[in-house]
Amino acid sequence: MRRAIIEGLGTYLPERAVTNAELAEKVDTSDEWIVERTGIRQRHIAAEGEFTSHLAIEAARRALDDAGMPATDIDLIILATSTPDNTFPATATAVQAALGITGGAAFDIQAVCSGFVYGLTTANAFIASGQATNVLVIGAETFSRILDWQDRGTCVLFGDGAGAVVLSAKDVADEDTDGEGILACRLRSDGRYKDKLYVDGGPSSTQTVGYLRMEGREVFKHAVTNIASVMQETLEQAGVSASDVDLFVPHQANIRILEGTARKIGLDFNKVVITVGEHGNTSAASVPLALGVAAQQGRLKKGDLVLLEAMGGGFTWGAVLLRW
Ligand code: UT7
Repeated sequence: MRRAIIEGLGTYLPERAVTNAELAEKVDTSDEWIVERTGIRQRHIAAEGEFTSHLAIEAARRALDDAGMPATDIDLIILATSTPDNTFPATATAVQAALGITGGAAFDIQAVCSGFVYGLTTANAFIASGQATNVLVIGAETFSRILDWQDRGTCVLFGDGAGAVVLSAKDVADEDTDGEGILACRLRSDGRYKDKLYVDGGPSSTQTVGYLRMEGREVFKHAVTNIASVMQETLEQAGVSASDVDLFVPHQANIRILEGTARKIGLDFNKVVITVGEHGNTSAASVPLALGVAAQQGRLKKGDLVLLEAMGGGFTWGAVLLRW
């Protein structure tokens, strides 16, 4: 059996951090409201001329460095984003060219905030089936470009950034669940909820890029239930329980969602990695950015059981269980 193991991790945040107080000068909001309702204190915003591909390339370079792997060993690049540089070609191909890779394949995945979890699951399937050996999975976003900066209900929530991992194939025995690598993945979506979180433009419908629109309270309501159920299913698939998990690396949308989910599945909140205060919601980049912070803080140890999850527009949601 071939298993996908994480060989390298890299992240990148744009230089400029924007505080809640700065936003309060532009829209009718306050640091107090944002912190109390979301846990967000600041977010990073890409500079003019800094694109999603630029953030992705930097994160990918750092992940390759961490893996000690030459870029030319990569035979697949999967880039999760809802804010591509262009409608086409895929931003993944810009990353491929910048890294000097001319073999293999590169494509984008669109699952909004669940994009990184969708990307990991796809990469895992490519590796398990023998179709790829070394895969770069990247989550990269410039959500600042699709925000309506007059809408206080959404513009205070999101930020820009990128994170990447290098996944490599390793041959293991079928029954080996103590070894490193991805142990279980579960993806879900339900298109009936499109109107709760969407962008009101697109090439085919309006020929514009559009702006993010969200019924926050509605999304919140579904988030805890959906995330908790997909996490349970993933744990069951691997035959482990919530108390076996050493580190929980969730999508970072709102600290109250993280608290609610941990409570619902009986997870010790001390095991939860929280970056929403510093990054805001960076959509597909949020899980790998949180992994990066956990690594920096020495909270990711070899042999740890790590549970990742995300939920976003669509709705889409999913979870990945892996041993570090
Ligand atoms: O990553 C994708 C998934 N996205 C999410 O998971 C987001 C999920 N939703 C949320 O995190 C929360 O629903 C929000 C943070 C978006 C909003 O928090 P809430 O507690 O659900 O607030 P609300 O939308 O019910 O609004 C409460 C009040 C409203 O005023 P009234 O109608 O009670 O007078 C809003 O107009 O807060 C007002 N409000 C604000 N006030 C100050 C909304 N945004 C702001 C703001 N500053 N930025």
